Amino acid sequence: MTRIFSGIKPTGHATLGNYLGAMRRWAEVDQHQSDALFSVVDLHALTVEHDPARLRRLSRQAATLMLAAGLDPALCTLFVQSHVVEHVRLSYLLECTATDGELRRMIQYKEKGAQALAAGRSVRVSLLTYPVLMAADILAYGTDEVPVGDDQTQHVELTRDLAVRFNQRYGHTFTVPKATHPQVAARVMDLQDPASKMGKSHDAGAGIVYLLDDADQVRKKIMRAVTDSGREVEYDRERSPGVANLLEILSACVGGNPIDLAGVYESYGVLKRDVAEAVVELLRPVRERHAELASDPGYVDQVLEEGAERARGMARPRVDAAYAAFGLLPMG
Ligand code: TYM
Repeated sequence: MTRIFSGIKPTGHATLGNYLGAMRRWAEVDQHQSDALFSVVDLHALTVEHDPARLRRLSRQAATLMLAAGLDPALCTLFVQSHVVEHVRLSYLLECTATDGELRRMIQYKEKGAQALAAGRSVRVSLLTYPVLMAADILAYGTDEVPVGDDQTQHVELTRDLAVRFNQRYGHTFTVPKATHPQVAARVMDLQDPASKMGKSHDAGAGIVYLLDDADQVRKKIMRAVTDSGREVEYDRERSPGVANLLEILSACVGGNPIDLAGVYESYGVLKRDVAEAVVELLRPVRERHAELASDPGYVDQVLEEGAERARGMARPRVDAAYAAFGLLPMG
């Protein structure tokens, strides 16, 4: 059976981008067809300035939202990354496999590093080594497929390179995984700045739809989305990125392809209204289920505890094998 691993980092409130690019598929497809693990990858939230109390809140919220989105602990393994020490154990060996040059080439390192320096803050070493920890998340489980949005492609490519290099030098230890993306909405753009990804770590903005926004907030944000100076509704990411983004969101919500959907609309206003209603309907059950689950934190904690136990059992033999292959003496 195909082994799947994916995760979300609790750096901010989860967005429509997280849902359409990743979470929805985890719940609707992946957990039913595969042996799937999903993680709140909390260690990844420590690579930039963070507030411990907020991290705790967001980690629990991310787990609750994953359940609200439809992840079922009877079908998949849901856990918090820092509860399974194997990730960090393996990450160190992979740091001894990766090179400084290949990590400095990572787009997210360049972007976030430049942002920190521009704001007069120093750059944590973990921002550079972050993709190696992500590779460890994936490789520890013998993962075949990594369902992610478009922005994670480069990190999964690095993971593949590290797996191949490790296997060649130290003997076959890791499965070489591949990234999978949704057919549409693999990169949902910011509604106010369609040249940038809709990102939860960005400053709260009018261009980001959060999964826990209420219906009025969702409507307001979508009705105010930046469109383009043209009049015609066309699907063209280069010339009309704002409209193309709305068409992709609509397509992800109601089906059909964005090019055909473009032909249905004669004005931006009507398009926006339909997108707003489609997103409100899509998110309504998630928000309702979240409210129910949030009133029972004991249940969420229990799911996470059982998930971590299971994940540990799956990761440990492979990480032990990697330590042995590297030449480290086995523990007695
Ligand atoms: P993160 O937390 O930024 O995002 C979680 C998932 O949501 C997808 N995503 C989007 N998809 C479409 N449009 C968007 N605007 C958008 N924004 C986010 C992301 O591609 C991702 O699939 N490094 C990862 C977390 C991670 C991970 C892993 C993922 C750590 N270890 C191992 C897979 C496997 C991250 O920062 O995702």
